[in-house]
Amino acid sequence: MWSDRSPQARMEEANTTAREAAQLLLDRIRAQRIEAAFVMGSGWKEAADAIGPVSEQVEMTALPGFIAPSAAGHAGRIHAVRRGDRTVLVFHGRVHLYEGYGPLAVAHGVRTAIAAGARTVVLTNACGSLTEDLPVGAPALIRDHINFTARTPLIGARFIDLTEVYSERLRRACRVFDRSIGEGVYGGWFGPAFETPAEIRMMKSLGVDLVGMSTVLEAIAAREGGAEVLGLSLVTNRAAGLAGKKLSGDEVLEVAAAAIPRLRPLLGAVTELLLEQA
Ligand code: HPA
Repeated sequence: MWSDRSPQARMEEANTTAREAAQLLLDRIRAQRIEAAFVMGSGWKEAADAIGPVSEQVEMTALPGFIAPSAAGHAGRIHAVRRGDRTVLVFHGRVHLYEGYGPLAVAHGVRTAIAAGARTVVLTNACGSLTEDLPVGAPALIRDHINFTARTPLIGARFIDLTEVYSERLRRACRVFDRSIGEGVYGGWFGPAFETPAEIRMMKSLGVDLVGMSTVLEAIAAREGGAEVLGLSLVTNRAAGLAGKKLSGDEVLEVAAAAIPRLRPLLGAVTELLLEQA
C-alpha cells in the first residue's frame, strides 16, 4: 500500500492511515486518547512489565498500515497499560528499514501513536558502543543522532527543526533518577549487515557514540508530529572492530536478556514521569 502514488499522495495516505489506525486502536483498547507510547526495541520487551499491567492487547496487523515485524525479538503486538484514567501504549516490535518496506512503514507506529494523542514517544533500541564510556550491558540516553540511512519519513517541503530531537527535559529527568546513566550520539545505520570496522572508524571520527538500525526515522516523524522524544539505548556490544571478535545477533539478544534487571527501574521511572505530567 505504500508504493506507486505521487509523493504528496503518499504522505497524505500515511497520515490518513495513521489516523484510521489510531481510531481503531482506541476503539479496541476502549480509550479516548493515550498519553504516551513506548516502542520496545530488541531486548527491551521483557522489561516492559515495569511500565504497568497490560489491560488490552492488539495485534499490529489488525490495524491499517501495520506490517508484522520480522526481526527476532519483535512480537508485533501493541499493549495498552492503564494507570487510573490514563493510558500508555507499548509497541512490542517495530519495522526496520532493512526489512524493505520503506520509511513510511517504519514511521507508521509512531504516527499512529501521535494520532491517538501521544505527546511523548519513548524509543528504545539495542545498539553497539563506540566508546568505553558507554559499557556493554548498560542503558544510555540518546542525546542526538546522525542519520546514515539516507532515508526520511518526510516527503515534500517539510522543513522541520531538529535542533533538539531528544528532549533535554526528559534526559535530565532520567539522569536525576539514574546518576550513572551515560549519554551519546546515536548513528542510525540502514543494516541489516552490521557495520565494517572502517565504517565504525568513520562514524567515530564524526562524533558517533552508539550505533544501531532503528530509531532515527521514528524520532524524525515524532518531532514532525510535535511529540517529545526520549531515546533509550541498551548497549549490547562494542561496535565492529572494537572488541577483537565478530558480532552476532544472538549475542545482542543474550546481553539484552541479562540487562533486563537494569532496564526495569528505568522504564518504571520514565512511566511515572510521563503520567505525572499528563
Ligand atoms: N550495530 C548496529 N546495530 C546494532 C549493533 C551494532 O553494533 N548492536 C545492536 N544493534
